[in-house]
Amino acid sequence: MTRLIETSGTAPAVAGRGGARSRIGWTFVQLTALAIVAYSASPYFTASLSDLAGQDVGLASTYAAAPPFVQAALYVHIVGGAVALATGPLQFWRGLRSRAPRVHRWIGRVYLIAVAVGALGGLTIAPSSSAGYVGLFGFGALAALWLVTGWRAYSAIRRRDVPSHQAWMIRNYALTYSGVTLRIWLPLLLMAPLVFGQPWEFDSAFANAYAAVPFLCWLPNLVFAEWLIRRRGLPSYRLPA
Ligand code: HEM
Repeated sequence: MTRLIETSGTAPAVAGRGGARSRIGWTFVQLTALAIVAYSASPYFTASLSDLAGQDVGLASTYAAAPPFVQAALYVHIVGGAVALATGPLQFWRGLRSRAPRVHRWIGRVYLIAVAVGALGGLTIAPSSSAGYVGLFGFGALAALWLVTGWRAYSAIRRRDVPSHQAWMIRNYALTYSGVTLRIWLPLLLMAPLVFGQPWEFDSAFANAYAAVPFLCWLPNLVFAEWLIRRRGLPSYRLPA
């Protein structure tokens, strides 16, 4: 029978190895995270949902007529997601961890609370997704894994197991980063029929693209996270033969 096992890690020092490539990667992640907070999250705090629906902003039209608790969950989700997305990259900055460990701990607490709040909001709004069952299960599984990986990262550091903490934080932020990858996949899938010379109409192209993103926005991120964890010699999951 195939099962997943957690292997033990090697020297934690390997995990912190810098280099130009990882600095470029980190800068890219931080800048794209901030861009999505500015471009996708902040507009929700500039006007009411019905006004935003009239201006065709994001998914405001899906939620403008939703029950108040769903609307409240949407706002809670956006605040939690935005805080987690913006603060997460700071936690992978080795200079901050070594020079100001207390700041790292405080940002870590803010980050994990934002993840918990964002995930509970995400779970509440997932049944209203315009992607139907795919949205419910795709975003629902993402929210559940967001909570579980955040909890595993926290409990690992309470046990002072730094390599496991780093590995779970990489998995957790890979899930947080779905807030960015969703918004990269969506326009690519929307435009794909044009590239393949197929007939194109916005509503059907959008529905088709949106049916893929509830899973596509996070599954490849998790695979990439596992590759990164293994490359850094941290405790990774392996499929035994
Ligand atoms: C990682 C776990 C996440 C889960 C489970 C999740 C879940 C969801 C769900 C279910 C929706 C409604 C989608 C629909 O109605 O079809 C949504 C919308 C939204 N989420 Fe998330 N999300 C996550 C991460 C984030 C992050 C990190 C951000 C940070 C910016 C974010 C910001 C938003 C925004 C702004 C919307 C409104 C839709 C839009 O205008 O694009 N989410 N999310």
